[in-house]
Amino acid sequence: NDVGARTLAIVGELKGLEGPLLPILHEIQAEFGYVPQESLPVIAEQLNLSRAEVHGVVTFYHDYRDHPTGRHVLKLCRAEACQAMGGDEVAERVKSLLGIDFHQTTLDGAVTLEPVYCLGLCSCAPAAMFDGAVHGRVDAELAKELVAEARR
Ligand code: FES
Repeated sequence: NDVGARTLAIVGELKGLEGPLLPILHEIQAEFGYVPQESLPVIAEQLNLSRAEVHGVVTFYHDYRDHPTGRHVLKLCRAEACQAMGGDEVAERVKSLLGIDFHQTTLDGAVTLEPVYCLGLCSCAPAAMFDGAVHGRVDAELAKELVAEARR
């Protein structure tokens, strides 16, 4: 199938690297937006790994998704500096506005909420990233605006 063939092409290109698994997963996520279940056996076979090993790596790293995202992705920083500056409150607020938890996508497919561990914006904590753009000093008001933008 298509996913299998595209996965095979990516693996073929990168499997000569030393420690090829992470670069391959990275490329696959760039290609599909997530790491499809159907890619796992192809990667496993090509790299002589078990499917469970590949699956373990996908779930271990927060950056890989095993499901497609919504049209928008909102990431909230959950690392220490942001937590200390009210990140928890912002997270609760956003979760209740969207009606979802982390790693979930709203039913209308508009937005996926993900945790992220430091965006390098600690001096402007709490930080968030919306579709790749970073935002600092996220308060209830900005959280609401981001959610509204995501719903548009
Ligand atoms: Fe949140 Fe660094 S801890 S940006």
